[in-house]
Amino acid sequence: MPGNTFGTLFRITTWGESHGRGLGVVIDGCPPRIPLDEEMIQSMLNRRRPGGSHASTPRREPDSAVIMSGVFDGITTGTPIMIMVENRDADSTAYEPHAELFRPGHGDITYQVKYGIRDWRGGGRSSGRETVARVAAGAVAKALLLKENIEISAYTLELGGIRIETFNMDVVDKNMFYSPDMDAAERMEARVIQIKELGDSIGGIVAVIAKGVPAGLGDPVFDKMDADLAKALMSIGAVKGVEIGAGFEAAKKQGSENNDPITADGFLSNNAGGILAGITNGDDIVVRAAVKPIPSILIEQKTIDQSGKSRTISTKGRHDVSAIPRINVVCEAMVSLVIADHFLRQRAIQWNEST
Ligand SMILES: Cc1cc2nc3c(=O)[nH]c(=O)nc-3n(C[C@H](O)[C@H](O)[C@H](O)COP(=O)(O)O)c2cc1C
Repeated sequence: MPGNTFGTLFRITTWGESHGRGLGVVIDGCPPRIPLDEEMIQSMLNRRRPGGSHASTPRREPDSAVIMSGVFDGITTGTPIMIMVENRDADSTAYEPHAELFRPGHGDITYQVKYGIRDWRGGGRSSGRETVARVAAGAVAKALLLKENIEISAYTLELGGIRIETFNMDVVDKNMFYSPDMDAAERMEARVIQIKELGDSIGGIVAVIAKGVPAGLGDPVFDKMDADLAKALMSIGAVKGVEIGAGFEAAKKQGSENNDPITADGFLSNNAGGILAGITNGDDIVVRAAVKPIPSILIEQKTIDQSGKSRTISTKGRHDVSAIPRINVVCEAMVSLVIADHFLRQRAIQWNEST
């Protein structure tokens, strides 16, 4: 009921708040004998770390992952894996003047209504920092998938209205926005600087591609692959829309344009985004997430305090201008978790003539 657990066979439970002692995850159901070490988790966490670009918060967390259990001699043992990250750079003082105020666009008001109490320091569990635990879990899912030659990668499709015009995955790691278009990355940087000067924030779109996913993953009817991907991505703070394949564009197409013709050598197009009837078809899975602008902004806005009195707020803490690019690796982690889970679920029912 409390909603901190995700997945069926590859099952994660995350815990922790933005300014508490730390955050972490317990992964239950990870198969044994998968190579895993702290380095693999750390390299994913480094992509989520603040301060990498102009769009990021100046909060400088080392975000050091510690594997507490479930790994021996660099290999998973099949027992629960617990990963912990300490909060070392939390500064709650900037939040003190706002302790009684609800930030427009943030979860302050809904947490207060729901629980009658909230950890106002850095947004508590509604903070983007909560995604540290997801990324750590995603690194383990990726290690499992890597063994099966399934590769999942994310990139920035759009930031503040600037959309990529060329596509080269080789340059994604060569610019701070994870853009596959270097020219667009430069324009994104200029846009972020401009927005930062205004004390405002911007959103964007992240795309995730999964390659090498076998056909047959996904459980109709309620646990369809696309349904589970949508839930996984929508569960990330600031994600407001999810598209699979042609997505919303499919609504404008005719059937003859939208169907992916089938040949003996495979599909001739991929409007389905690699999923038909909730089951993977062997083609690349293509999914996009729409990310809203960061709610905490310097520009003054109307709000109320906890007693319902009208107030204004200008949020001074350390905040991102955009959740992009840091959210890229979070989306990649969530897609990895869903595919790892369905991979194990399919393996559990696989019918083998020799058995
Ligand atoms: C990686 C990441 C970083 C974020 N950074 C911030 C931030 O610095 N300031 C902020 O107000 N919101 C930030 N957010 C967004 C809030 O967490 C989110 O908007 C809030 O929880 C409300 O949820 P909702 O937008 O899904 O309705 C971030 C989200 C993510 C995923």
